Amino acid sequence: MALRPKLIAPSILSADFANLARDLEAVTAAGGDWIHVDVMDGHFVDNITIGVPVVKSLKKVSKLPLDVHLMIEKPERYVEAFVKAGADYLTIHVESTNNPGAVLDQIRQLGAKPGLSLRPRTPLSDVLPFLEKIDLILVMTVEPGFGGQSFMPDQAAKVTELRKIIDEKKLNCLIEVDGGVNDKTVVHLKEADVLVAGSYVFQNDHRKSIETLKQA
Ligand code: DX5
Ligand code: ZN
Repeated sequence: MALRPKLIAPSILSADFANLARDLEAVTAAGGDWIHVDVMDGHFVDNITIGVPVVKSLKKVSKLPLDVHLMIEKPERYVEAFVKAGADYLTIHVESTNNPGAVLDQIRQLGAKPGLSLRPRTPLSDVLPFLEKIDLILVMTVEPGFGGQSFMPDQAAKVTELRKIIDEKKLNCLIEVDGGVNDKTVVHLKEADVLVAGSYVFQNDHRKSIETLKQA
């Protein structure tokens, strides 16, 4: 199998929130491809992180595409605001809304690239009906909510299965993986296109860790 070039999306959840511009610049200079932004509402997940105003400020200083991961209930209430704030990719969770298809269409109409994610306990069959509508499928390899958790190797089977389906149907949909990605766990992710990494990139030499993930 030919080596699949990988994009790396450092997750600023592991950055210093008092120095976001500085940290964003550091991972950009170190070879990051996208900036992954985790939005949490304290309902869909237990944690609360950042919202629209911060995305708007990040957009002003980022040279890289903003990959915004919404872990919020009823995302339809906020997608317009996040697209206006500058989200390039905007990913919702299939479990977070009654009508994922309509929200994905809404994101595309607003001018951003729609993405869909699923929790580890959600079966792949729940996202398959939407594959033709999206530019990105985000496979969670930890329970969403916090950085620094351990990778769940059993979730890698979803990546293999998605690769098969996306290649067979020749769909324009990138496979992204999020949670516990590091130099050890990356061996399970050969078929992914985009790797999110928070603690691994921010707690180590940025350039070396990004390079390691790209070459794995
Ligand atoms: C978790 C977030 C992740 C998180 C990953 O809910 O979606 O993006 O930042 O952090 P690490 O890479 O430390 O597991
Ligand atoms: Zn994320």
